[in-house]
Amino acid sequence: MQKYLINPNQKISKISKDIYGHFSEHLGRCIYNGIFVGEKSEIPNENGMRCDVVKALKEMGIPVLRWPGGCFADEYHWKDGIGPKEKRKKMINTHWGGLVEDNSFGTHEYFELCRQLGCDAYINGNVGSGTVAEMSEWVEYMTFDGISPMAELRKKNGREKPWKVKYFGIGNESWGCGGNMDPEYYGCLYKRYNTYVRDYAGNEKIMRIACGPNSSDYHWTKEVTDKVKHHAKAISLHYYTLANDSWSNKGSATEFDTKDYYRTICKAYRMEELINNHIAVMNSVNPQQWVQLVVDEWGTWYDVEPGTNPGFLYQQNTMRDAMVAALTLNIFNKHSDRVIMANIAQTVNVLQAVILTDADKMVLTPTYHVFKMFKDHQENTLLGSYITTDEIKAKEIGKSCPQLIESASVDKDGTIYSTVVNTSASKFSRIKCQVADTKVKSVKAEIITGDIHDKNDFKDNDIVKIEEFTDFKKHADGFTACLPPCSVVKFIIEK
Ligand code: AHR
Repeated sequence: MQKYLINPNQKISKISKDIYGHFSEHLGRCIYNGIFVGEKSEIPNENGMRCDVVKALKEMGIPVLRWPGGCFADEYHWKDGIGPKEKRKKMINTHWGGLVEDNSFGTHEYFELCRQLGCDAYINGNVGSGTVAEMSEWVEYMTFDGISPMAELRKKNGREKPWKVKYFGIGNESWGCGGNMDPEYYGCLYKRYNTYVRDYAGNEKIMRIACGPNSSDYHWTKEVTDKVKHHAKAISLHYYTLANDSWSNKGSATEFDTKDYYRTICKAYRMEELINNHIAVMNSVNPQQWVQLVVDEWGTWYDVEPGTNPGFLYQQNTMRDAMVAALTLNIFNKHSDRVIMANIAQTVNVLQAVILTDADKMVLTPTYHVFKMFKDHQENTLLGSYITTDEIKAKEIGKSCPQLIESASVDKDGTIYSTVVNTSASKFSRIKCQVADTKVKSVKAEIITGDIHDKNDFKDNDIVKIEEFTDFKKHADGFTACLPPCSVVKFIIEK
């Protein structure tokens, strides 16, 4: 029996809802077809946005959406995507599949999407191939409420009032597809671009995000944090979970054995080590902790589904992905004192998507159900918690990682939410939970579980879902429960 302690006396940090954020790029069928079909489409839409996808994302609780990239951001010229659609420039999306980008989804469409979703905006600006003036004018176009050339242009294009930009990214992967820069050079460039990202909305300051490291590039983190510490709200970490060690053979999303499964799980757990180490490096040059961490690209990355365009990054999603999502969201919750936003890649039809579409059909993936289950944590207070656990010894891969991982939070009414993940592919886990100094009135629970290969697809979209969980017993100060293999359970505890 594993021991699980939740301590309501230990209130640690607010879990920003933005930890549950998403990322949508002009890549494959994410924006086009997946989200935006155009006003003339036969697929039911409101102002061009798919009604089914918007409804599902709202129900899941999407708080913030990053756009337009990714690598695409550093070749995106925003003026190509405004004004009458028939006059918008066409370009080749050189990063992703070499398709013609007709710019029919641009700034106005993005904010319309945010409006329909009820979510905040996170725009990523172009440092790689754009100019300071271009970035500065984009911010003016979006956020200035006075008389100026860009505000007038916005009004001419049908939008009187400015929009709110909560986050603005200054470059993406500037160490790679965003310009192949050194951190010292990028740090200086950041300051130059950032100077002209004006706060037109007075007190509502735009939160600037500087390009952070790739995975474990601690040198990048140190140099960039040092340069931007007076000028950035956060730096962004990118970390993808591959099933194999090689980018040329990432492994299949659906055809995998137990060894591949555990290798993926152990690699996903690496997120915790990366967060701890990057924060330690950031603190070494910024002990005042002005600069926070965002993880604005994360998730699993496998070989594309056979027969699909390799540049579209379309992959299926199984219970393995649900485990990766659940354990990662627990890690983010536990680090919510410094991790202020995270954005899984990518919302629809790309990488670890929460939604897949095929023409007018839509499938909600196991990852979708995890986000929906976890949405109760949004804006809650993280509580101290601890669980004992066996280690999964994935001998074949020479690594081990915890079988169980949890997090617990409390909402403003005092209800406690605890999400516990059992990553074992085959073993049940019995847990005994004690809620310190608390008389527990009631416990309810929900579960997502299945075989590690279980998935939803266009033939059967209801295999993996959230169900009621009853295999637990309430005690005066907690509960005991038996967690099935490959499961995530949410306990709702009233006192
Ligand atoms: O999410 C796909 C790509 O991965 C993004 O465009 C890029 O930032 C990263 O390398």
